[in-house]
Amino acid sequence: MIALKCPEIKVTVVDLNKEKIKEWNSDDLPIYEPGLDEIVKQCRGKNLFFSHDIPKAIEEADLIFISVNTPTKMYGRGKGMAPDLKHVESVARTIAKYAQGPKIVVEKSTVPVKAAQSILHILKEAQAHDQKLHFQVLSNPEFLAEGTAIVDLANPDRVLIGGESSNKGLAAIAQLVRIYEHWVPRERIITTNTWSSELTKLAANTFLAQKISSINAISAICEATGADVREVAHAVGYDSRIGSKFLQASVGFGGSCFQKDVLSLVYLCEILNLKPAADYWHGVIEINNWQRRRFSDNIIKELFNTVTDKRIALFGFAFKKNTADTRESSAIYIAKHLLKERAKLHFYDPKVTETTMRHDLRRVTENELVDKLVTIHSCPYEAAKDAHAVVVLTEWDEFKTLDYEKIYENMQKPASIFDGRLILDQTNLRKIGFRVFAIGSAPTQSFNLFP
Ligand code: UDX
Repeated sequence: MIALKCPEIKVTVVDLNKEKIKEWNSDDLPIYEPGLDEIVKQCRGKNLFFSHDIPKAIEEADLIFISVNTPTKMYGRGKGMAPDLKHVESVARTIAKYAQGPKIVVEKSTVPVKAAQSILHILKEAQAHDQKLHFQVLSNPEFLAEGTAIVDLANPDRVLIGGESSNKGLAAIAQLVRIYEHWVPRERIITTNTWSSELTKLAANTFLAQKISSINAISAICEATGADVREVAHAVGYDSRIGSKFLQASVGFGGSCFQKDVLSLVYLCEILNLKPAADYWHGVIEINNWQRRRFSDNIIKELFNTVTDKRIALFGFAFKKNTADTRESSAIYIAKHLLKERAKLHFYDPKVTETTMRHDLRRVTENELVDKLVTIHSCPYEAAKDAHAVVVLTEWDEFKTLDYEKIYENMQKPASIFDGRLILDQTNLRKIGFRVFAIGSAPTQSFNLFP
């Protein structure tokens, strides 16, 4: 987006992974994101370059964005909660090693509060030994969501820049503001101190995840009482203090950010000795896991309390529509629960590859179950053929317009459909003959042996 909006700025994207860089320089970009292809192809070779020559890029740059991943740490202190900062630190050390003049280092990766301080410590060490060096570290968290990345970048709600309040800090902030000002109205560019900026990113993602867990917790009450979560969400969201966005009840949130960032905030509360705050935010994760479990249990219950050897078609594997990303997708956990019960799972997703699906499932369940019980299809009608149930796990638009009469014809009877995303026309499905179960509404033809 910087390359597109600022023709006078040269943007070089560097990575250690030569294969990835090769892909970025090819016709087949390594990630699917609506609108990205056109922009890369428009700017590449003019003011946008992809390279693995990291020392040269550091030497040439005035501003350096650290944009590496910070996954949840899976070992040692903070295991399963704290974000892993080893890539951030390694980039800071690389900058310290190759920089030959003043640099503004921008922390773009999502990091815990005070991470900028650690980066600065490493850079200051280099600065102490070389008069020509001077480093300023800014925090500039990214708020784009996958699937809408280009739209979000082109028209952000806000851009946040945090930095030191010294003269040099303010001057660095002003330089970054000038870049964003090319396309973002000045009043939408917020400047704060570094720590506020770092905390805002974690707080924003935690608030968003909390909103989903709140409506999902309400969806459970709806199922038990006869209220309809779509009606409740609509009426609640009409209150402008609450707002209508992110109130879509679902099989639970997925993606690379929400769980990781909520856990990072919980860990921060714990190390600051703020136990009630840690427990409060951890509830967001607990509700999410519960929602996935509840949905899987409902499938089993509605299929007469046994899914062993039953064929179940799962529509969608990505964590949301318009992306091939499957990180922390609820589909993985719902499949895991069903595989434990020895159901035969037939998947269809418009973008996710068979290799990715098998890899993700093997990470959470025994290889043998995946090999024996999982089949991947490239056509939804094939996936649903002879199935006892169809389960919608991702809100891909194409699932709304499938020929459900045809699907029903070719399924075992009674044929059930489970809408984990509330995207299907339930009335029409019932008219066709389906037993319908949707998140957040009481099933009308529920099998009540074990209510
Ligand atoms: C999120 C934040 O939105 C973004 O600001 C941040 O920079 C990165 O993390 P992303 O993970 O790409 O973005 O997707 P998002 O659209 O937020 O969806 C996350 C998950 O929540 C998805 O699984 C989605 O299906 C689910 N979701 C979203 C719901 O279940 N209900 C909703 O109402 C909204």
